[in-house]
Amino acid sequence: QCDLQGLWRNELGSNMTVLATNTAGTFSGSYHTTVAATNKQILVSPLQGVQQHPSAKRHPTFGFTVQWQFSDSTTAFVGQCFVDLRGKETLETTWLLREEVLSHKDTWKATRVGTSIFTRIK
Ligand code: BTN
Repeated sequence: QCDLQGLWRNELGSNMTVLATNTAGTFSGSYHTTVAATNKQILVSPLQGVQQHPSAKRHPTFGFTVQWQFSDSTTAFVGQCFVDLRGKETLETTWLLREEVLSHKDTWKATRVGTSIFTRIK
């Protein structure tokens, strides 16, 4: 039912492509964010993830990280795939965005947190 593979968009307009999950539950893909905490030019960036119970396909939990190609930051998403009664799939996620700081004294301000819902566009 809930298949992570495909093209997804979140409430910010960011697009992500998730490739097929293998039997071990790992997957890769790419992420095109519409927003950034830096002023650098945004580049499409790779993601690597894992999902639970890849063959059961119920409402699996998953996690993935994005290695931004235009900043020193890393984002980790965790979430779960849901399907409503009409068959519409959503990925409900929570993310942590860690930025590189020059001193551990700045750790207190180095992590942003948020939630994001993705809907399938393909
Ligand atoms: C950076 O700003 O250093 C890298 C880009 C971060 C984009 C964040 S990740 C969480 C949130 N959801 C998105 O689709 N984009 C932002």
